[in-house]
Amino acid sequence: TETIYILAIESSCDDTSAAVLCNDKVISNVVATQKIHEEYGGVVPELASRAHQQNIVPVVHQALLRANIDKKQLSAIAFTRGPGLMGSLLVGTSFAKSLALGLDIPLIEVNHMQAHILAHFITDENNPKPSFPFLAMTISGGHTQIVKVNDYFNMEILGETLDDAVGEAFDKSAKILGLPYPGGPLIDKNAKLGNPKKFPFPKPKVGELNFSFSGLKTSILYFIQRETKTNPNFIEDNLNDICASIQYTIINILMDKLKKAVKETGIKQVAIGGGVSANSGIRTALKNAEKNYGWSTYIPKFEYCTDNAAMIGIVGYHKYKQNVFTSQDVTAKARYII
Ligand code: KG4
Ligand code: ZN
Repeated sequence: TETIYILAIESSCDDTSAAVLCNDKVISNVVATQKIHEEYGGVVPELASRAHQQNIVPVVHQALLRANIDKKQLSAIAFTRGPGLMGSLLVGTSFAKSLALGLDIPLIEVNHMQAHILAHFITDENNPKPSFPFLAMTISGGHTQIVKVNDYFNMEILGETLDDAVGEAFDKSAKILGLPYPGGPLIDKNAKLGNPKKFPFPKPKVGELNFSFSGLKTSILYFIQRETKTNPNFIEDNLNDICASIQYTIINILMDKLKKAVKETGIKQVAIGGGVSANSGIRTALKNAEKNYGWSTYIPKFEYCTDNAAMIGIVGYHKYKQNVFTSQDVTAKARYII
């Protein structure tokens, strides 16, 4: 059987990434994170696209170098078509098209959110793969969805956020606490040392399998404003407990909906994906659900949680096997539903 080498490119937000896969194994995965956005408290799209343009060639070069293969060995180029920031997507899309044209090999477009889910099919001794059908909760800075995955390219969205994404809830809460962007990982770090039940925050009342996080952000803001009136050092004095309480509330919201989805579908295989699946609270909660509810859970390795090209590559591999290629007139798609 043929050995397939895929070069994958991801540039949907603020990370420039390139990976090389040999069939369903990752042989290199290089990520250049853009630091420039920290001082602005969020991703500045115009700066992101400029940084991608600077990074893309060296990142691809590094990925090929670390994989120790020559461009001429590549079978196809896979790239993120969307969803994401238009200026960022254009850089990866244009680069991928040009390279595929130059090498005269097939081009494969990839949906970023499908990639977060299919990252579970990267072969790795320590991580078993889910079988179809399974439930996937995609939790990132841009998305919060519960998806029923019937097959590689047959997915149904069962529920999603009506306002902010869960990553935004983490990042905006962190901003209220004066933590730098992106604050999600810092909330996680501080939460480990705090009491999660110290400050109870209300859970939103949202029907079905949908989510809402904008109310939580507002209630955290009012709570902090009220407390700092009487104690100007309230945040510093209670940072770990505040972080633990915020994280506890968010994880409960996510787990409540997952439990509901399992109950409604009867599917007990549950996977998570996206940047927030790096969170220690959700990882522990899922592990506990194995013991407590008999679920089989699938948690990506850390490097495949946040944005990376390896996950784009695994989608590329499965499309390649199914002969699903993309023509050169493809354009980036900022809004792209799975
Ligand atoms: O998937 P991702 O890298 O980019 C998007 O597609 O959005 O996700 C980034 C999001 C950010 O909101 C970041 O704060 C959050 O994932 N995140 C975390 C953690 N690590 C990353 N949130 C909570 N705890 C973490 N450990
Ligand atoms: Zn992502």
